[in-house]
Amino acid sequence: MGEAKPVPRHIGIIMDGNGRWAKRRGLPRTFGHRAGVEAFERICDYAVTLGVECLTFYAFSTENWRRPPEEVQAIMELFRRQLDEMERRKEENERKGFRIQYIGALDEGGPVPQDVLRKIRQMEAETSAKTRMVVNIAVNYGGQQEILAAARRLARRCLDGELEPEALTEEDLAGGLYTAGLPAPDLIIRPSGELRLSNFLLWQSAYAELWFSDILWPDFQPADLDAAIADYGRRQRRFGDIL
Ligand code: FPP
Repeated sequence: MGEAKPVPRHIGIIMDGNGRWAKRRGLPRTFGHRAGVEAFERICDYAVTLGVECLTFYAFSTENWRRPPEEVQAIMELFRRQLDEMERRKEENERKGFRIQYIGALDEGGPVPQDVLRKIRQMEAETSAKTRMVVNIAVNYGGQQEILAAARRLARRCLDGELEPEALTEEDLAGGLYTAGLPAPDLIIRPSGELRLSNFLLWQSAYAELWFSDILWPDFQPADLDAAIADYGRRQRRFGDIL
């Protein structure tokens, strides 16, 4: 018998290539995003069977607001529908044991529509006790902005005399990020041929293994996740040490 392959505890996924997937089929870009949601569901359902503890999906970045307003609106509408659908399938989701969390700048008065925020808060509250797998969906998310917000909060506490700047630790900063309490991502997957992180989990990915592929996100299958995890299993993670 071979040695058991390590399963990453936390996998980050940049869901890229929806637009190109649609274009290749002569469809509007929004059809690609719709197919992207199906891939998201497929991969959540599969990853949980492997024992992955946490998946973080990059759904909408702080920079994505630059897209044409019709596309932004269509994506917000997809979030609404997806949240309503999860609400309708409450029992099925209960059984799956997914804890759903949205990460990003999701404050009242920000650019994310009020009703979407309300649905997000409801979904988070309803699934907060589930423990089988955490599913983070990054919306209005930017890694640099996340680090800046955490640094500002620490600076405020220093000014208030609660903390000493010289005594601050990496844990203090990590504790102010949206992913506080979760293991750092072991593996980050980016399909669609781009070879960059695009402001995704910048602090958290310090030692993550990166896996790139030309597959467009809507085409991403459980077998592709298997391939990424198999490659991950062949990497030597040294965390700066020597072997
Ligand atoms: C990147 O592809 C995709 C986005 C910016 C939007 C992704 C959003 C979804 C898949 C909806 C997810 C919703 C839930 C609830 C998880 P792209 O448009 O940049 O593709 P391109 O590079 O081919 O143009």
